[in-house]
Amino acid sequence: MKFTTPATTNPIDQLKVVGRATDRIDGPRKTSGSAPYAYEQHAAAPHAAYGQVVGAAIAKGRISAIDLGEAKRAPGVIAIVTAETAGALGKGKMNTAKLLGGPDIEHYHQAIALVVAETFEQARAAALLVRVKYVKEDGAFDLAKAKDGAHKPKDGKPDTRVGDFDGAYAAAPVRLDAHYTTPDQSHAMMEPHASIAAWEGDKLTLWTSNQMIAWSRADMARTLGIPKENVRLVSPFIGGGFGGKLFLRAEALLAALGARAAKRPVKVALARPMMINNTTHRPATIQRIRLGATRDGKITAIGHESWSGDLAGGKPETAVMQTRLLYAGANRMTAMRLAVLDLPEGNAMRAPGEAPGLMALEIAMDEMADKLKIDPVAFRILNDTKVDPEKPERRFSQRRLIDCLRTGADKFGWNARNPQPGKTRDGQWLIGFGVAAAFRNNLVTKSAARIRLDRNGVVTVETDMTDIGTGSYTIIAQTAAEMLGVPLAKVVVRLGDSDFPVSSGSGGQWGANSSTAGVYAACVKLREAVAEKLGFAAAAEVEFADGQVRAGGRALPLGQAAEAGELVAEDFMEYGDLDKRFQQSTFGAHFVEVGVDIATGETRVRRMLAVCAAGRILNPKSARSQVIGAMTMGLGAALMEELVIDQRAGYFVNHDLAGYEVPVHADVPHQEVIFLDETDPMSSPMKAKGVGELGICGVAAAIANAVYNATGVRVRDYPVTLDKLLPTMPAYS
Ligand code: MOS
Repeated sequence: MKFTTPATTNPIDQLKVVGRATDRIDGPRKTSGSAPYAYEQHAAAPHAAYGQVVGAAIAKGRISAIDLGEAKRAPGVIAIVTAETAGALGKGKMNTAKLLGGPDIEHYHQAIALVVAETFEQARAAALLVRVKYVKEDGAFDLAKAKDGAHKPKDGKPDTRVGDFDGAYAAAPVRLDAHYTTPDQSHAMMEPHASIAAWEGDKLTLWTSNQMIAWSRADMARTLGIPKENVRLVSPFIGGGFGGKLFLRAEALLAALGARAAKRPVKVALARPMMINNTTHRPATIQRIRLGATRDGKITAIGHESWSGDLAGGKPETAVMQTRLLYAGANRMTAMRLAVLDLPEGNAMRAPGEAPGLMALEIAMDEMADKLKIDPVAFRILNDTKVDPEKPERRFSQRRLIDCLRTGADKFGWNARNPQPGKTRDGQWLIGFGVAAAFRNNLVTKSAARIRLDRNGVVTVETDMTDIGTGSYTIIAQTAAEMLGVPLAKVVVRLGDSDFPVSSGSGGQWGANSSTAGVYAACVKLREAVAEKLGFAAAAEVEFADGQVRAGGRALPLGQAAEAGELVAEDFMEYGDLDKRFQQSTFGAHFVEVGVDIATGETRVRRMLAVCAAGRILNPKSARSQVIGAMTMGLGAALMEELVIDQRAGYFVNHDLAGYEVPVHADVPHQEVIFLDETDPMSSPMKAKGVGELGICGVAAAIANAVYNATGVRVRDYPVTLDKLLPTMPAYS
């Protein structure tokens, strides 16, 4: 099915199941521990051996000698894989660095060997006996130093210019020119990267933890140099990804190579201290924002430049994206520059681009409002746009930023904010309010599904879509239940298997809308097949409700269509050019109250409110969870999260959850989420969008702005830690 014109009324609009706050259908299995995660697929590979990854101890250079003798003689060792013994390997399309390094080393903790042994302890002990000699080369690890030599990235429109930015900026009566920095960050998802590999002849099965089954299946085949039909990926339950599991990673490839060498199934998990330098992270940015405005607060010039680093051949952090679309202003420029750094690979993390971009832009907006003496909510409303400011002929499909800001201000009690910073006290606490806009684009991608109907009226959905903790199982079940007129209990959802039709996968907050649209398409096909089987004339006039199929005064049980055998329908949803003719984005507003201890500078977030406009909310309960999780992650970005680089050795020092701080329960205050009632007929027949990434966008800036309002100290360098506040905070009194 192809989606080429705006959606009209369809069975989803009944909202008997869709749009209702619904418990996760996978909840009981998750909470009872019976949902198998990759490393726990014991039944699939009961006699698996254990693989331990050896990571490079230098950031750049090469291996001059590797001595495996002692490791091979260690108790229980079955096989050792290195680049030398692995045979010729290709490289995945989605990978920048090789997943198995050697002799050349591209980054610290790049995998250079896998030691396979009978037990986990034996594999770990033997891995310590692998003796490696390196020839070390100097690397570049400091973005601030590499910035001036940064280049214009090849693809992805690095520069945009509209009107005369330089002239308008110079002529503006009120100007802001400020630099902001965001640090390298880690996904820090609960479940580590883990895989079990088993070969049957030349066919590989990989139980793994991966967001994008089809991408990773293709990349595994490419890397091993085998047909992709010979690779099966199974990833039914995933303990978080945040972008860290979008791609094939080292543990998956090494499990496959280890299983081939050991001639039996092999399981590999990355130990937590290996994850941060072995895998990917969100790259640090340096951003410069220039705003010019009239005295009454209209933006006349808006410029945003961003510098980030990556390994040679890598990509920039696209931190200027939202600035192209969020606010009006006739004269504009954006630019992205990429420095080559020899740190581990930079890549997508929840709202790549917009999350760090808004950390800067939304402080800049607060600073400008302050200069203009205009309320920051009013300043944003004043500079709203209904069209793409770079291409005014393109309208937004839906854009309710103003509603988000107004609703939020009202519900939060924004009026109580004292615009004078450092003036509100509650005992030892300096109190501040902060606001920021949220923005994230809505992407639509092709997605397929297969639906089976049995004689009992049970509907089974199969698609390689993943559920990374987001609630995919549930919204897919809701979609099928609505389309086929059955209760949720009659729907079985099977996900995350490359034997199933290829879905959108989970990434870029496109999964909810795109994957359910694919299920919608398959259900439309099944409805036609059912109507035909039951002898109804035209599917369009047939009603599917209460487990029955009704038309022309006849009503038959749905299951009757499968009386003679299971009925199967498969289809996909693909998209025309509606997403090009109309700018599709999601919007929100974050409101935050903080308290900053006047003596110690300790910041505690006291209240958070998010208002989101993101199309139809398919399941308000799981969507709320998504936004709350994202708000929490934004709190971490504001106050805690930072990978610290050892500038001599070129690696992230705090590479575990003791050193890389994320919020814990005690850090998380009262959080509230409001979804505006909205449908977006341009996005798909589901009329939905995504919220999982929108929820983090702007949060950190709202907190930084609240800290400013509390203390009068403007921190432009994340995270906002107390050492940056104390020197210029109001004196203790
Ligand atoms: Mo997302 S960062 O595309 O999982």
